[in-house]
Order: sequence, then C-alpha cells, then structure tokens
Amino acid sequence: MNTISRSDFNYICELVRRRAAIVLEPDKAYLIETRLTPLARQNGFDSLQALIASLRLNAADSLHRKVVEAITIHETSFFRDAHPFETLQTTILPNLLARRSASQTLAIWCAACSSGQEPFSVAMLAREHFPALVKGRLRIIATDLSGAVLARAREGLYSQTEINRGLPAMLLTRYFDKQGLHWQIKPDIRRMVDFRQNNLAENWPLLPQMDIIFMRNVLIYFGLETKKAILAKVRGILKPDGYLFLGSSETTLNLDAGFEPISMGKTICYQLR
Ligand SMILES: C[S@@+](CC[C@H](N)C(=O)[O-])C[C@H]1O[C@@H](n2cnc3c(N)ncnc32)[C@H](O)[C@@H]1O
Repeated sequence: MNTISRSDFNYICELVRRRAAIVLEPDKAYLIETRLTPLARQNGFDSLQALIASLRLNAADSLHRKVVEAITIHETSFFRDAHPFETLQTTILPNLLARRSASQTLAIWCAACSSGQEPFSVAMLAREHFPALVKGRLRIIATDLSGAVLARAREGLYSQTEINRGLPAMLLTRYFDKQGLHWQIKPDIRRMVDFRQNNLAENWPLLPQMDIIFMRNVLIYFGLETKKAILAKVRGILKPDGYLFLGSSETTLNLDAGFEPISMGKTICYQLR
C-alpha cells in the first residue's frame, strides 16, 4: 500500500467536499488509499499518485466523478435498524391516514437512498399493510447524489448477501424474482419508486410537500453549515404535521431549533415546532 502525501490527501478532501459536501477527517487517509488504489489500476494508472496527478491536470469530469463515487459510503440494507419501519407501520402511517381525506396522496421522500433498499422497504411495507394507499395514493420519491447507485436502484437487482441483510423471507418470496445468483425486485414494486439524482448540498429539484422524509445516515458526512442549510430546506418542504427520520447517530439538536424530537418506542422522529 502506498502512503498518500499530505498534498494529495488535501486535494482529494477538497474534491470530495466541493462535489458532495462530504468532509473527510484527517484520519481518513486509509479510506482514500484503499478505495482509490483499485480505481487507479482499473483506469490504467501505475499508482494512486499517478491517478491524482492526472486529476490535477485534467478538467475532464468523468474521472473526478468516479473518485467521488469511490470515496462515498453507500452502506445500506433492507429495513435498516428495523424499528423505524415498525413505527412507520404501527404509528406514523395510521396517524397520517387518519388526518388525511381519502382522496389525498401521501408523499414520502427517501433522500440519499443509495441502492434502493430503503425506498423499496417502504414500498413493500405499504403493499403489505396499507393496500388502499398503494392504489394511487402513495408517492415515493428517492434521490441520491450518485448516478451509479441510482442505476442499481432502478434495476432493483440484489446479491444474496444484500438480501440476507434485513429482508424477511416472506417478502423475498412475494416481491422478488430469482435472476441467476441475484434477486430482482418485481416490476410493480419498482414502479412505486421514482428515483432521481439530487445533491442535497446544492439546489434541490422541485419536490412536492412531503408527509414523511427519510434522510438517514447522510448528514453525518457533512460539515456543520451544510447540515444546517439542509435542515432549513427540509423545514421548507416538510408538511406541518409531517415526520422526518434521521439515522440513529444523527439529530437536529444544536443544529436547527425548528424541529422537535418525538419519541415513539425506540424511534425518534422529528416534527416541525
Ligand atoms: C450511508 S448511505 C445511506 C443510505 C440510506 N439512507 C440508509 O440509511 O441506509 C449514504 C448515501 O448518501 C449519498 N450522498 C452522499 N453525499 C450526498 C449528497 N451531497 N447529496 C445526496 N446524496 C449524498 C451517498 O451516495 C450514499 O448513497
């Protein structure tokens, strides 16, 4: 393993911060080395240093984009952490449905959806427990910065290892087809999710007012000002009685006083004050 120089480390940190707002701490040199050394080889460079030298020289975009993709953590799983989905099923969706008229659509946004397991978990949950909602009254929008994970999400094709992480066997048999060594989510579940590219740190596309926003395990990668700016924009599109889900190590506390944490069993959601 080659050791990255401080100047190359700083260059990559700046690139990733500028493109994705992701802040790499000084102890993340190993991450850059382990992720970018294979990328350097795949792209015909002798070393990581040669890859970075080429990045510095060329304004061409595709290699820079690949570097940002390679550094970004896309970790996700079906029904990640389990309890937020239980709370969605037992409390939040019944509450919202009781408050909405039978003709109103519920809008759910999975921001930073990675390869799709999170929005597909929501779609399967709705299919299983709220069949009336699925008939034209549910809109699920899922966004991510990475075109590569979005392409995977749109295909809905998962390895056995990804399936083993959190997907109940009953849902596998109901909603997936075997495709060689992989499993593909059925077209009617795939069609329930509208996947779009969006950088949370830049201008957002036009989005409807949301009943529920999942923005889980992404704010942790951003600096303080970026987190504050994103939460302020979330306030702008969350309905007055809507719910925001963050990751288990994330919070709005000390970032945005406009949100109130609401405890529901093991789950903490955030609502507008
Ligand atoms: C760790 S995954 C979380 C996936 C899912 N929300 C979950 O909790 O399982 C973080 C995702 O955030 C995305 N991401 C990183 N920076 C982003 C940005 N600036 N805008 C939008 N998405 C971003 C990454 O591409 C990655 O797919």
